[in-house]
Amino acid sequence: MQKLIRKMQDKENKRITSGVPGFDNLVRGGFRENSVNVIIADPGCGKSTFCWQFCSIDPDSPALYVSLEQNLDAVLRDCRDIGLSRFEEKYRRGRMQFQVAFSEDSDMTSGEIGLRFFMSELPKHLEVIRETAEGYSGGIKIAIDPLTPLLLEIPDINHQRNAINRIFSSLRKIGTTVVTIEKGFGEALAKVPLFLSDSIIELEHIGLGGIYNRTINIRKFRGSAHSEAPQPIGFEKEKGLSVYDISND
Ligand SMILES: Nc1ncnc2c1ncn2[C@@H]1O[C@H](COP(=O)(O)OP(=O)(O)OP(=O)(O)O)[C@@H](O)[C@H]1O
Ligand SMILES: [Mg+2]
Repeated sequence: MQKLIRKMQDKENKRITSGVPGFDNLVRGGFRENSVNVIIADPGCGKSTFCWQFCSIDPDSPALYVSLEQNLDAVLRDCRDIGLSRFEEKYRRGRMQFQVAFSEDSDMTSGEIGLRFFMSELPKHLEVIRETAEGYSGGIKIAIDPLTPLLLEIPDINHQRNAINRIFSSLRKIGTTVVTIEKGFGEALAKVPLFLSDSIIELEHIGLGGIYNRTINIRKFRGSAHSEAPQPIGFEKEKGLSVYDISND
């Protein structure tokens, strides 16, 4: 009986690694399984890099990457340039699906295409990824980068709340998701996914140099104690983003 209870607790407490060295220690071991986690930041703060690391850290966990901004070639090139070759390797090995939810040659806005993708195509992709995951016990990873065009497409807050709620609920049934939001772009609209998400992680770039030049701040993390202050973070070749260890300072 004790064994069974422990097993159930382990399942409840299962954490999914972020792929960002040092981050998991800030949030008791990683993201909660089947949670939706929002990364909010200004341009160039590392939203996409976080997603690339998250999806590619474990070579075998099935992953779905949904891009509302960059096509596959652009993402692979960026990953190559920062030395994150494992993203492309995982994609080539068929363990990651890359879905583009925008068009470079259509009059439709990214928001319209994104909305259509999430409302009618996402369930199909989730079904495929669920099949890929059969026999794999480590959890499915999903990244959506960025969600902003979709938010701008639904300016009515009530409609947006309903749509985001539906999307987040279906994602939670499948795996653990990281969603990015561009700060400052539709600031009021960003509030809906922030309320509906399980966690909010803010990346900042002050631009004055020094160890706190770039920081990561956990603003909310449902069900967990977490670090309360902004932590220094930086880019390292071949690794991408890493949270610096300041415990001995
Ligand atoms: N090795 C590195 N050293 C220093 N900075 C780096 C390094 N690699 C990446 N960067 C920084 O990361 C930025 C890009 O990060 P990323 O694309 O993840 O940001 P983003 O938040 O997704 O940006 P956007 O809003 O433009 O999509 C670059 O502009 C650069 O400043
Ligand atoms: Mg980006």
